[in-house]
Amino acid sequence: MPQLEIGLNRESNSPSPYALEAQHVSITYWSKHKRVEALKDISFAVKPGEFLSLIGPSGCGKSTLLNALAGISRAGVELDGEIRRPRHQVLGYLFQKQTLLPWRTVLENMVAPLEIRGVPKIERRNKGLELLAKYGLQGFEHSYPSELSGGMQQRVLLIRTLIYQPDVVLLDEPLSSLDAQTRVLLQDEFLRIWRDTGCTFILVTHDLEEAIVLSQRVFLLGVRPGRLVREFSIPLPSDRSALTIRTDPKFQNLQREIWQDLFQSLVGIYAQ
Ligand SMILES: Nc1ncnc2c1ncn2[C@@H]1O[C@H](COP(=O)(O)OP(=O)(O)OP(=O)(O)O)[C@@H](O)[C@H]1O
Ligand SMILES: [Mg+2]
Repeated sequence: MPQLEIGLNRESNSPSPYALEAQHVSITYWSKHKRVEALKDISFAVKPGEFLSLIGPSGCGKSTLLNALAGISRAGVELDGEIRRPRHQVLGYLFQKQTLLPWRTVLENMVAPLEIRGVPKIERRNKGLELLAKYGLQGFEHSYPSELSGGMQQRVLLIRTLIYQPDVVLLDEPLSSLDAQTRVLLQDEFLRIWRDTGCTFILVTHDLEEAIVLSQRVFLLGVRPGRLVREFSIPLPSDRSALTIRTDPKFQNLQREIWQDLFQSLVGIYAQ
């Protein structure tokens, strides 16, 4: 079995105009019995402050790509090519199906990343309480995750991802378990955070409508092996609202056009 490739995920020495760059990235999983070519020759660049979404069928390598962008590598995963990001860049990553620690209160969960970084207790508490109030969760600081609704838990996870002010936020299907109304409210929250912070967002979603509501660009990935099939530009204003944009004729035209393209691409993918 090949050894884990280390050092391919580089922090660039020379200044780069991009927040993230993938250059000819291929990823293979190895086990005793099986070799899975998860991603093949993926190249793209993300500008600072951009909102990018990745969509594609289950198993096409979306989570694998986010892990690679985050620099997460381990035994049994072989990465060819290069991921480049600026030196000292801070990354926030909300994993697929990530959950809160059930034995910790909301506040303790939220400030865990600050604890790991050695931020003093009083400072952590103050920052946590400030964010709880900002995100409409005041009064729940001493609650346990099981006492919160699904939407509230996702909000706490999101705050935990943002608490150390990342430059780049990676979100892997953060809203997929929520009901339609809560999703729209949190989508609006994402847009507000994106505008307020100027962070670069990379979102994985199964939902084309969600990708259009939130993004400036949408990448479609194909399966076996996962590769970039199409790129769609979303020329909607950055001050859009997730609550109202869906009724805008521009949104509806875009959705119709992309759906037709997407459908053709998917037919092509499955015909192979
Ligand atoms: N730890 C692993 N070991 C072996 N193969 C893996 C591992 N993780 C993922 N794979 C394989 O890599 C491919 C891509 O998986 P990945 O989880 O990245 O897909 P995905 O697009 O995120 O899917 P989903 O939409 O279902 O979350 C799949 O074929 C999967 O079986
Ligand atoms: Mg996934």
